[in-house]
Amino acid sequence: MSSSNAIGVFDSGLGGLSAVKEFLHILPNEKIIYFGDTGRVPYGTRSRDTIRKYAFQDADFLMTHNVKMIVAACGTVSSVAGDALEEKLSVPYTGVVNPTAYTAVRTTKNGRIGVIGTAATVGSHSYKLRLQKLNPGVEVFEQACPLFVSLVENGVIHRDDQITRLVVRRYMADLKDNGVDTVILGCTHFPLLRDAISDYMGEGVTLVDSGFETANYAAKVLREQGLLNSDPSLKAPEFFVSDTPEGFESVAGLFLGRNMEHTVTQIDIEQY
Ligand code: DGL
Repeated sequence: MSSSNAIGVFDSGLGGLSAVKEFLHILPNEKIIYFGDTGRVPYGTRSRDTIRKYAFQDADFLMTHNVKMIVAACGTVSSVAGDALEEKLSVPYTGVVNPTAYTAVRTTKNGRIGVIGTAATVGSHSYKLRLQKLNPGVEVFEQACPLFVSLVENGVIHRDDQITRLVVRRYMADLKDNGVDTVILGCTHFPLLRDAISDYMGEGVTLVDSGFETANYAAKVLREQGLLNSDPSLKAPEFFVSDTPEGFESVAGLFLGRNMEHTVTQIDIEQY
């Protein structure tokens, strides 16, 4: 395995870009290959078997690019297929649950942590189990927020948008009433709604971004394994999706702050 190989990152759609954004910032020498399974999003409402099948296909596609590490920048995949992926892959792997839980237990002051994610993630209790393993004293309040994924995929993410605000209030009210001081954005789509969630929860509540934490953890793993790329030449990230690139290009471009027109390639994920 060569340190000049790319890092492969995948998600069901746009969400994993919250990790890519951080990778581009902290590891500017690295080449990133991203796959967003836009033809089959959302994953979070599907069965365990389906999510596993999709996750394996996504990882197999990235492996055709000889990546040196695979990052499942997806709370749902990490929660229900993470162990199976780790076992199968011949390169280092990380999901989002462990690095994010680790930061959350160190962040909370009152020991009350909220977890928001997809139905599959919350149903697996992956974050709760991890948090309570790290610190059995914390109280964890979980909330599934499936509509957040649709808001993000459709670009309805602005903090002043009436629909965004209503959905945020609907999902976050119980966590607010329960007095959490830390909220895990346990689905990588959710950091794109960070402003609206933060406006509602207020300044005293810290939001822990699973994409950000995971990119930082992946950087640590690569460093420890001597796999960081020291060649400073510019390497443009490559983006692949499984449905038409247009909608993805505009929302991704907004989020990453770059013009992504005609930079995203559509592939047939069913062949992997
Ligand atoms: N971004 C994903 C996650 O972190 C999946 C959202 C979905 O496809 O339902 O859970």
